[in-house]
This record gives sequence, structure tokens and C-alpha cells, in this order.
Amino acid sequence: MAAENGNPGFLKRTWHRLRSPSAKWSVLGLLVVGFVIGSVAIIGTQVMVNVTGTDKFCGTACHSMQWVAKEHRDGIHGTNRTGVAATCHDCHIPKDYPYLLFYKARAGIKDVIGEMRGVIDTEAKFKAARMEMAKHVWEEYAGNNSQACRNCHVFTKEVLAKQKEMVRPIHATVMEGKATCIDCHKGIAHTAP
Ligand code: HEC
Ligand code: HEC
Ligand code: HEC
Repeated sequence: MAAENGNPGFLKRTWHRLRSPSAKWSVLGLLVVGFVIGSVAIIGTQVMVNVTGTDKFCGTACHSMQWVAKEHRDGIHGTNRTGVAATCHDCHIPKDYPYLLFYKARAGIKDVIGEMRGVIDTEAKFKAARMEMAKHVWEEYAGNNSQACRNCHVFTKEVLAKQKEMVRPIHATVMEGKATCIDCHKGIAHTAP
């Protein structure tokens, strides 16, 4: 502010400087600076995606996630005999860039605002809001043919042959495109509301 008051041409001069070619810096120097800034931005983004992508972060950063997190931990996709788990991210965040970043940013902002307003900060409030949230997830899965499930579960004739006999004809309808996972497997990671 002081600069603007005491020096009316400040903005104009800065603008002029920004627009003129650099006298001091070589093109190589500028490229290196640009490269370093770009790298830091990319690595920083990647670190944030990883830090905020663990079950520990998703299940504990917000008070309101603790209930679903426990159900997930105790369920087949959390702890099972083969030790292969599906994380919150696997089921709730698309895995393709750049879509992953938009999705995470949107979901994160919404959740933080909800947390601060205390929308679901008690178990009672959580239970009341649960149906609404589940519906959003179901709609999303119905809209993308349960893509998240199919990232891990790939059905072929050979796979079906290894499944329980009573399930085979049912899953055959999935392979014909007549049904999608979430039509039948609601409540697969958390208690369905
Ligand atoms: C990250 C990979 C992954 C994702 C994503 C995933 N699953 Fe699974 N799922 C597994 C694994 C691994 C098992 C087997 C666990 C075991 O039995 O050892 C499993 C088991 C199951 C079972 C068998 C349950 C049982 O009691 O035997 C069903 C049903 C299932 N998944 C449905 C789904 C549905 C529906 C989705 C999408 C909402 C989904 N899975 C998403 C990896 C995944
Ligand atoms: C039309 C209903 C229906 C659809 C759609 C459906 N399933 Fe199933 N699925 C079932 C039923 C019923 C069972 C048997 C339930 C049980 O054993 O508890 C089952 C069992 C399973 C099992 C365990 C198989 C076994 O042999 O133990 C897995 C894994 C599974 N489903 C994954 C999926 C995935 C992934 C999709 C989407 C690609 C899907 N299902 C779509 C109805 C369906
Ligand atoms: C195997 C896939 C899968 C995993 C893993 C998973 N979810 Fe879910 N989640 C779902 C589905 C499907 C729904 C929709 C409701 C339902 O069918 O239970 C859902 C619903 C929710 C809801 C809405 C409230 C509700 O109960 O329906 C929240 C919040 C949620 N999940 C958070 C999490 C968190 C946090 C984790 C990790 C600790 C996680 N989820 C792991 C599949 C998953």
C-alpha cells in the first residue's frame, strides 16, 4: 500500500518490467527457474495426493468419518484372510488424472465445510445424514457402471467358473451389461443405511 501511495507509477512500472524482455537473466536461467518451480508444484501436488489418500487420513482427519472407517476396517475390504485391502480412495476417488485432482478438491472442500459447520459431528446427526450421502454414492456408481469395483474385480467366464455356483447365473447378467455391482452389493464396505 505504501508503495502505491508514495509512488503513483509503481503498478505501471512493475507491469512494464514484467512485459519487457529480461536484461539480467539469460533464457537458460529463466528456463531453469521455470523448471524448478514447475517441478516443486508437481511434486508438491503428488505428495498432497498421497498424504490425503491414506485410510488413516480419510478415516480420522475428520471427526465425522470415524463411524464409517470402523465399519470398513472390520469388513471384508478392510481386513481379510489374504491381506489385500481396498482403501477409501480405491472406492471413492477416481484414479485417473487430472479428474482425480478435481474430484479430491471438490470432495475435500465440501467435507471441510461440513465438518466446520458441524453438519454430522455427532453419531446421531451422522445417522440422520447417512441415507442422503449413501444415495450420492449409489447414483455415482450407477452412472459409471461401478467403475471403482471393476478396477479390482474383473469378471470373465473363467472367473465366474470359480465363484459359488448360485452366483454364476446372477453375475452372468453383469457380463451381459444388464446389471451393475451396486444394484446388488449395497453396503459392501459400510453398513448400508
Ligand atoms: C482395491 C481393490 C478392490 C476394490 C476397489 C473393490 N474390491 Fe471387492 N474385494 C477385493 C478383494 C481383494 C476381495 C477378497 C478379499 C478376501 O476374501 O480375501 C474382495 C471381496 C469382495 C466380495 C466378496 C465378499 C465376501 O464376503 O466374500 C464382494 C461381494 C466384493 N468384493 C464386492 C465389491 C464391490 C461391489 C466393490 C465396489 C463397491 C468392490 N468390491 C471394490 C478387492 C476390491
Ligand atoms: C444381480 C445382482 C448382482 C450383481 C449386479 C452383482 N452381484 Fe456379486 N453377488 C451377487 C450375489 C447374490 C452374490 C452371493 C452373495 C453371497 O455369497 O453372500 C454375489 C457374490 C459376489 C462375490 C463373491 C463370489 C464368491 O464366489 O464368493 C463377489 C466377489 C461379487 N459378488 C462381486 C461383484 C462385482 C464386482 C459386481 C460388479 C462387477 C457384482 N458382484 C455384481 C449378486 C450380484
Ligand atoms: C469396497 C468399496 C468401499 C471402500 C473400501 C470404502 N467405501 Fe465408503 N462407500 C462405499 C459404497 C458402495 C457406499 C454407498 C453406501 C453403501 O452401499 O454402503 C459408501 C458410502 C460411504 C459414505 C456415506 C455414508 C454411508 O454410510 O453410506 C461415507 C462417508 C464413506 N463411504 C466413507 C468411506 C471411508 C472414510 C472409507 C475408508 C475408511 C471408505 N468409505 C471405504 C464403498 C466403499
